[in-house]
Amino acid sequence: MGDDSFMNKCLICREEIKPFISFGKMPLGNGFLLPEQFAEEYYFDMDAAFCSNCKMFQLVQQPDEEQMFHENYAFFSGSSVFMAKHFQKFAEDVIKNYLPDDPFVVELGSNDGIMLKNFADQKIRHLGIEPSRNVAEAAKGKGVECVTEFFTESLAEKIVREKGQADAFLAANVMCHIPYLHKVVKGIATLLKPTGIVMFEDPYLGDVLKKISYDQIYDEHTFLFSATSIQYLFGQYGMELVDIIPQKTHGGSMRYVLSNKGTRDITEAVTEQLSYEKENKFDRKDTYDNFKQNCEKSRDKLVELLKDLNTQGKRVVGYAATSKSTTILNYCGIGPELIEFISDTTPIKQGKYTPGSHIPVRPYSDFKDNYPDYAVLFAWNHAEEIMAKEQDFLKSGGKWIVFVPDVKILE
Ligand code: TYD
Repeated sequence: MGDDSFMNKCLICREEIKPFISFGKMPLGNGFLLPEQFAEEYYFDMDAAFCSNCKMFQLVQQPDEEQMFHENYAFFSGSSVFMAKHFQKFAEDVIKNYLPDDPFVVELGSNDGIMLKNFADQKIRHLGIEPSRNVAEAAKGKGVECVTEFFTESLAEKIVREKGQADAFLAANVMCHIPYLHKVVKGIATLLKPTGIVMFEDPYLGDVLKKISYDQIYDEHTFLFSATSIQYLFGQYGMELVDIIPQKTHGGSMRYVLSNKGTRDITEAVTEQLSYEKENKFDRKDTYDNFKQNCEKSRDKLVELLKDLNTQGKRVVGYAATSKSTTILNYCGIGPELIEFISDTTPIKQGKYTPGSHIPVRPYSDFKDNYPDYAVLFAWNHAEEIMAKEQDFLKSGGKWIVFVPDVKILE
């Protein structure tokens, strides 16, 4: 009998998987910290793999869940105006197109209530499930009802006993965070009414491959989904994709709409997306080997550019201490010698240092009051919103450095 203890297994179908890229030792994307914590900083091996059987793109090792989502979780969804509008439209779509009379809506990972607030305001019965206590408290302050727990089948059973089955199960930028997805989908199957709808969105694998936005790969993103991999997973629980809608958020996301098999018509968008993924070889190893080479090229170009500016004595700062920037900074080996500080509007991050790379995170006013020569746009996914409000930076002679899809200085 062969010993398979050294094999890595796909989190979805349990087939053997082999990493095609290693990003090296990586700290937590949201692990902003103080100097006295540097010595005990948590790292894991960040390798990514693609399963040739079920087509799921995934991280090979998962860091401890308790290290990631806790009472001091630093990410507050409500920090972007654009995202608040996005979730308002998402909620309107659900209410208008999918909800029956007297509906009950459940959201997984309701964060600070940015989405459910829209249901609460209309007095629609709802429940948020949010394991990070500090963000859940912020949601409660907005009149959003939530439980501070991880979603499991037993929690789903408890909700059904106390509140009945759900008409809609929603999640945004949450499903791809969960390594034990089978338990969640089982829980969804228990929670959902037979006629209910599942709608969730996450960064789309297709955008990451096309834009070389490898910064979407970090500890919290256990998976990068595609229509193909989602169809496979939910198919095992009697559900199917009925619609699929690309989103601009997070630099390119996909909204998946699923229901129990045979309960709704399937839109052409679903068939088209599945064909697109086949045509673009999402199921082939070479696609990922090519992606790896593109990541390496992007890394080398960014490091060269920053070193060059440093030699010229230019002031370079970072704009927005995103979780994504943790992958860039650590994979590229960029520290405070190349980036003076990173400006961020989130109070909980200010005064701390970036995970692994230990660049100071400073309040936005530090950027605004003394514009640098260059700013690296780490929140490239919010480029439109940021560029529009930072006209004065350009007027001061400042320039943006971007790295998605290409590393360049915006002229
Ligand atoms: P986002 O891309 O949503 O984050 P992540 O990669 O962590 O998922 O960016 C959110 C971060 O960017 C948050 O720390 C706030 C910061 N930010 C600014 O500092 N200024 C801005 O104008 C915007 C839009 C975001």
